[in-house]
Amino acid sequence: MNILGIESTAHTFGIGIITDEGKVLANAKDSYTSKNGGMILDEVALHHKNVAEKVLKSALKDAKLGWDDIDVISYSAGPGLDPCLWFGYHFAKGLSVKHGKKLVGVNHCCAHLSIGKVFNKLKDPCYLYVSGVNTQIIVFEEGKYRIIGETLDIGLGNLLDKFGRTIGLGFPAGQEIEKLAKKGKYVELPYTVKGMDMSFSGILTKCQQLFERKEANQEDLCFSIQETCFAMLAEVVERAMAHTGKKELLLVGGVGANKRFCEMLDLMCNERGAKFHKVPMDLAGDQGAMIAWEGFLRMKDYGDEEVIPHWRTDEV
Ligand code: ATP
Ligand code: FE2
Repeated sequence: MNILGIESTAHTFGIGIITDEGKVLANAKDSYTSKNGGMILDEVALHHKNVAEKVLKSALKDAKLGWDDIDVISYSAGPGLDPCLWFGYHFAKGLSVKHGKKLVGVNHCCAHLSIGKVFNKLKDPCYLYVSGVNTQIIVFEEGKYRIIGETLDIGLGNLLDKFGRTIGLGFPAGQEIEKLAKKGKYVELPYTVKGMDMSFSGILTKCQQLFERKEANQEDLCFSIQETCFAMLAEVVERAMAHTGKKELLLVGGVGANKRFCEMLDLMCNERGAKFHKVPMDLAGDQGAMIAWEGFLRMKDYGDEEVIPHWRTDEV
């Protein structure tokens, strides 16, 4: 069985094709970027509209498949940005009607988790999901995902992108911040862990102030944001693993591309006899293959869901 998955929750329009054994046959995408930082919602939705047919064509071409070979179409029903979700839904619905395929609306966050799990062939990991919007520690218990720790305000990726904008980087800024951080040294920033939750907005404000008052340079702030935030997350995840007894950690979401972050988590896992896992770059950020795989896992329980903009992982 082959499943075609459509991703359109935020900056990326992607179409992936996966087999029922989790083999990725295609994962085409085109992401909206902007030079001056930030996302203008209608511009992003227009971007998706402009690239959709092209992305679909290349996905089918890469997989060397035609419509007869596709069994199910899945799409990201949420969470995400309203106009982007609606575009993705209409595009998916149109294809499902035209080609007579079952339509499955899935949760974008769960898709990040499940593609990482199948790729690494894991049994029962503790998940650390760190993207633009989301920063969550998740475990699977009694047939449901449970969020056992999360950001109380903005996601870590969002902090990086907002700070990037302050210092004149384009969007998204995470990768550029990682480069600048290599030349930085430590300046003190608020370390805000509250039980199993954490908060990032105070760090953003502090960094913006230090930069605007010229009390710290770009490199030092990039370095210090990384060290502080990654340490906060490593602390909470370690506690999560200690309490739940999980022996596998899986890092998913775009911030998972950061080498320093992975290094810190790997060290923490080694010290407690656990194993750290991540997903390769092409499966870490938003893309269609993860939506296709989640569609395969959920096809018995879900169908045409229209869009669910605030759909939480623990509501699936
Ligand atoms: P979600 O809808 O799941 O919250 P998202 O749309 O925010 O996802 P992702 O593609 O999962 O998107 O993650 C994007 C984030 O990853 C951006 O905030 C970006 O700055 C960040 N990022 C990308 N590369 C790096 C890196 N090397 N280091 C740190 N952050 C990075
Ligand atoms: Fe995502």
